[in-house]
Amino acid sequence: MTNNKNNIIIKNLHAKVAGKTVLNGVDLKLRLGKLVALMGPNGSGKSTLANILMGNPEYEVTGGQIIWQGKNILKKSIDERARMGLFLSFQYPHELPGVNMYEFLSTSFRILHGDEAMKDFDTKLTNLLQKFKLNEKFLDRNVNVGFSGGEKKKNEMLQLALFDPKFSILDETDSGLDIDALKLIAKNVNNIRTPNNGFLVITHYQRLLNFLKPDEVHVLVNGKIVKSGGVELVKQLEKKGYDWLK
Ligand SMILES: Nc1ncnc2c1ncn2[C@@H]1O[C@H](COP(=O)(O)OP(=O)(O)O)[C@@H](O)[C@H]1O
Ligand SMILES: [Mg+2]
Repeated sequence: MTNNKNNIIIKNLHAKVAGKTVLNGVDLKLRLGKLVALMGPNGSGKSTLANILMGNPEYEVTGGQIIWQGKNILKKSIDERARMGLFLSFQYPHELPGVNMYEFLSTSFRILHGDEAMKDFDTKLTNLLQKFKLNEKFLDRNVNVGFSGGEKKKNEMLQLALFDPKFSILDETDSGLDIDALKLIAKNVNNIRTPNNGFLVITHYQRLLNFLKPDEVHVLVNGKIVKSGGVELVKQLEKKGYDWLK
């Protein structure tokens, strides 16, 4: 028996962006302990779904529900959702000029985990910098300013590992990564996985999923899930592309 309190349930979700309908009734369940892959061609609405899960106000929900911890979370703000354990790793991480990395990480960590947890913060952070092969000087820089594509993605994954969310959404974390960075990130994500956290991994390539081994694979086309399956579906898509599903 799965307890619905441990799931994020997306029901018949409809949404618009910049006046245009992008999601046309998405149904999807995310479960603690599971890694769900969401694939689909460019422009199919994957990032829109990710942004709506996190509560980005630029995206207008026109119908449906997102239930987490037994509550419809659609009216909750981004920071409330973060405190409820949701985390989004951006496809295009934002540069924050004037915001120091250490300040950003420590302030966010304090908000999420409280003053008491700060006693372990520096040890955790140093440990994670090593795991992601990042230099201590990284912490003196401004968030994402002048970072390479790989450093930006590593920064997203460092936050994921540090903040220890219940559900993580990884939006095209693999894009722009060389194979070594990809393997390093995949290894760290695999290490973070426990029966008490869940992942939605968005990608349109096989290569990240070769390392992450999804429990379920769903394909989004024109704002609707058109096909669901297991890892075998990833191989099928790699061979046949997406046209046969349109
Ligand atoms: N902030 C935005 N402003 C205007 N149009 C957007 C915005 N975000 C997404 N769109 C449009 O919504 C559609 C779906 O985009 P997106 O969700 O980014 O797709 P995917 O991530 O699957 O490539 C596209 O046509 C895209 O141009
Ligand atoms: Mg996208």
